[in-house]
Amino acid sequence: SAQLNQLAKAAGKLYFGTATDNGELGNEQYVKILSDTKEFGQLVPSNGQKWFAIEPELGVFNFTYGEVVTKLAKKNKQMLRCHNLVWHSQLAPWVDSLTWSKKNLTEALIRHVTAEAKHWKGQCYAWDVLNEALNEDGTYRNDTFLQVLGPSYIEIAFRAAAAADPHAKLYYNDYNIESPNAKSASVRKNIVGMLQKAGVKIDGVGLQSHFIVGSTPTIDEQISTMRSYEKMGMEVAITELDVRLEEPETAANLAQQSLDYKSSVGACMQVDGCVGITVWDFWDPVSWVPDVFTGFGSATLYFANFTKHPAYYGVVEAL
Ligand code: XIL
Repeated sequence: SAQLNQLAKAAGKLYFGTATDNGELGNEQYVKILSDTKEFGQLVPSNGQKWFAIEPELGVFNFTYGEVVTKLAKKNKQMLRCHNLVWHSQLAPWVDSLTWSKKNLTEALIRHVTAEAKHWKGQCYAWDVLNEALNEDGTYRNDTFLQVLGPSYIEIAFRAAAAADPHAKLYYNDYNIESPNAKSASVRKNIVGMLQKAGVKIDGVGLQSHFIVGSTPTIDEQISTMRSYEKMGMEVAITELDVRLEEPETAANLAQQSLDYKSSVGACMQVDGCVGITVWDFWDPVSWVPDVFTGFGSATLYFANFTKHPAYYGVVEAL
């Protein structure tokens, strides 16, 4: 029977992909599925391209963690999404602890973005240039970058990324921006609109789509929100899809999970500007969910024993 990337491409999308991380690559059965391009046409490192790994000390760069996944994608002939250049979390501690002048932080930011984007130049279909820069009420997140530089840090980051890797699609990526609310309105006004006014290149909005079984936005809400970005000239992508359930698994919550995956993937299918779907890993034992959301788990498409969740077939139906 047809598989996820095969189906997505047949339907006109660029890819169906997954996040993955170095620690998982020792499992043979896992890697076999990961590397099957009928299943996954695109990879993204879950952690290896984050600031803490790339520039652990000021001016000291180390690309080895991220390269493990990017080299595997190359070997498998899979597309790459690259994640991420600027984020308040999983930052190298020095960024938050040094006392910055505007000039010094501007230089450090440009140096980081430039070095990283240049390192993978030409290899990334897309870069998540900026991750999670907004609060739920739509205001800018008050991290070190905002405190020192104000919103201009956003423009600085996108300009540096565009200069370093002119062919990569440059994305803003966030969660809770998949339905009509203050945060998605702010993506339009304070990220996309702000950059466009300043004449800075931004190509896409990444909808992380970390959802909860039974309280996923409706397909219509997801479609209209994707279209709201599309209307501003953006492409969109589902970038980190998972749907967590409150343990234990039951026939009922697994069936609802299937509907939830189906509506999210289905929304992308109905929006021309939605280029692809990425799940935030595909195997329950390596999902980030149980570590972060107490009592929740089973958020991916494959159970621990590598049998498929009903949600896998929900996705197949949507594609
Ligand atoms: C997660 C990783 O999967 C975990 O391994 C790590 O401990 C924390 O970060 N939004 C993002 C991703 O943009 O980078 C996060 O990844 C999940 C939430």
